[in-house]
Parts: sequence; structure tokens; C-alpha cells
Amino acid sequence: MAYDSIFSKSFGQSELKKLGFGALIICFIMASSFHTVLKQHVRGYCGNQFHDFTDVLIPLYLTSRRFHGEVLFLVADKRFFWISKYKPILDKLSNYDIVDINKENNVLCFKRMIVGLRAHKEFAIDPLEPPHYSMEDFRQFLRSTFSLERESVTNHVCRTRRPRMLIISRRKNRFIKNEIEVSNMARSLGFDVGGGRNRVEYIIVIQIIPFGAELWAKPYFQLPAKGMKLRYLEYKVSLNESSLLGKYPLDSQVYRDPGAIYNKGFIVYHSVYLNNQDVTLNFSRFREILLKAFQLVQC
Ligand SMILES: *[C@@H]1O[C@H](CO)[C@@H](O)[C@H](O)[C@H]1NC(C)=O
Ligand SMILES: *[C@@H]1O[C@H](CO)[C@@H](O)[C@H](O)[C@H]1NC(C)=O
Repeated sequence: MAYDSIFSKSFGQSELKKLGFGALIICFIMASSFHTVLKQHVRGYCGNQFHDFTDVLIPLYLTSRRFHGEVLFLVADKRFFWISKYKPILDKLSNYDIVDINKENNVLCFKRMIVGLRAHKEFAIDPLEPPHYSMEDFRQFLRSTFSLERESVTNHVCRTRRPRMLIISRRKNRFIKNEIEVSNMARSLGFDVGGGRNRVEYIIVIQIIPFGAELWAKPYFQLPAKGMKLRYLEYKVSLNESSLLGKYPLDSQVYRDPGAIYNKGFIVYHSVYLNNQDVTLNFSRFREILLKAFQLVQC
């Protein structure tokens, strides 16, 4: 899975040596354990929700699901916060505790071992490629992991509960400056706005696309949502709502032509639109999209 050079560089050679070929052959002969082993990627951009799924969880699912839990995960540099965050998913994929190979001094023996994970593309599964799963299968897997009962928005649900809205907040950049006011507005429209992520069935995804970020951002959540058969709405932040307003001369290319900045390459584009932009949502515009979402979950 070396499609991302920053990601692969952050993955040390020393751990790979620890699982060296010689050791593997000896282990093969001595095999006393019959687990298939998987060396798991928990580095790179881990901690970022998008990357957690695209770099680790989806590839892990693609690589290990077929073993029905009879697989042991070996991890280099086990990070507690990460493992605990995704414990339900990891527990569903493996019946065993994760082994931290950096802390392991014994020679471990396995009959079979897979080093690295299988990945198809960013936040997506190609059903034409082995193991021939789909994003819908992945969604089903998540639903069963979290014991979500609801297949779709049914009349029953409509009558008994207010629809819930979850804001996935960002902290360092591209965050919503008036997030508290936005959640208050959502509440006044009839949503329950909650923090807990567990046991929420996502039915509608609203992507807020910062000014100029469309060329880059759009496919990242639109395609996965469609693949999972979720409703997808998007809200394009206007220049008025962006912290970029006032940073550049009024006739700047940054405002006029994001496409031209995009063509200057990712580093430039990233530093202009992605790394240094926050948004203050315009209520009268954002309200429209929330109303639309609200209508979609009504009976
Ligand atoms: C931007 O703000 C100006 C002045 O407040 C306003 O006239 C204009 O309609 C706004 N544009 C958008 C797209 O909201
Ligand atoms: C907010 O959006 C409305 C509707 O598009 C627009 O008329 C208004 O000018 C915007 N407000 C600001 C401060 O940009």
C-alpha cells in the first residue's frame, strides 16, 4: 500500500527487519500457532478520522475480514488512544489481543503471515478487485459491529425520535468558528445535536467544503457516502464566510481562480486553502441545507 509516500516513509525499516525473512522460514518450520498474522499500519496520519478509515480500517477490513476473527494483529508502535478508539471494529475483525512487536522479545511463530494491508483506492472499495467486497458490505460490517438496527429512516423512528445531528469538529484548521451557534440553530430546527459517536446510524452526510477546496475535497466524502448508499449533501462556503477574505488583495487569483492555484501543485494549494482557512457559516445559507436534511428524515 505504498500509494502515499509520506505515509510509507513514516513506517520504519527496523520493524520490517524484526520480521525478517530468515526468521519467517524458521518460524514456518517450527510453527506451533495457526493464526494468520497481519502487520498493521497504525502510523502515518493516524488520529485523523478520514485517514483512520482510508489508511487503516478499510484496508484492514479488506485484508482480514475473510479470516472471521482467526487472525492475530501484530502492530509496530501500538498507540493506546488509537486502539481504544476503534476497539469495537478491531475486536470484530480479530478474536485475539493485538501484539505490540516493539515490546516483544520472543521469536513468534506463525504458520502464515501477511505483511502489509490490501487497499484499493482512497476511502473506497472496488468490488471488482479481490476480495470482492463493496462499500455497502463495509457499511453492513460497521452496522453489525455497533449493533445498529435501523436499515433506513422508517416511520417508526420518525415518530419516536428527533433526528440526531453529529458535527465532526476539526481543531487545527478548516474548523467552524461559530460551531456552537450552528448547533444551537440545528436544535431550534428540531435536531438533537449530540457528541457521542457510538450507535448513531449515519443516513445523511453533509460535507462543508471550504472556499476553493472543492477541487480537492469533493470526492473525499461524496464518493464514499454514495458507495455506502448514504444521502449526500454539500455546502460550499462562500468567500464571505471564509477567513481567507481580507488576506489577499481583492483581485487575487486566490479568490478569482482556485483552479489556477490547484494547478500550481499540492503544496501551494494546501497552504492556501486547506491549512490556513477557517469558516464562519452564514446562518441564512446554512439553514437551507439543514432544512433540506431535516425534510429528508421526515416521514
Ligand atoms: C457577501 O457579503 C456582501 C456584503 O455583506 C453581500 O452583499 C453579498 O451578498 C454576500 N455574498 C454572499 C455570496 O453571501
Ligand atoms: C448570507 O447569505 C445570504 C443569502 O445568500 C446573503 O444575502 C447575505 O448577504 C449573507 N451574509 C453575509 C454576511 O455574507
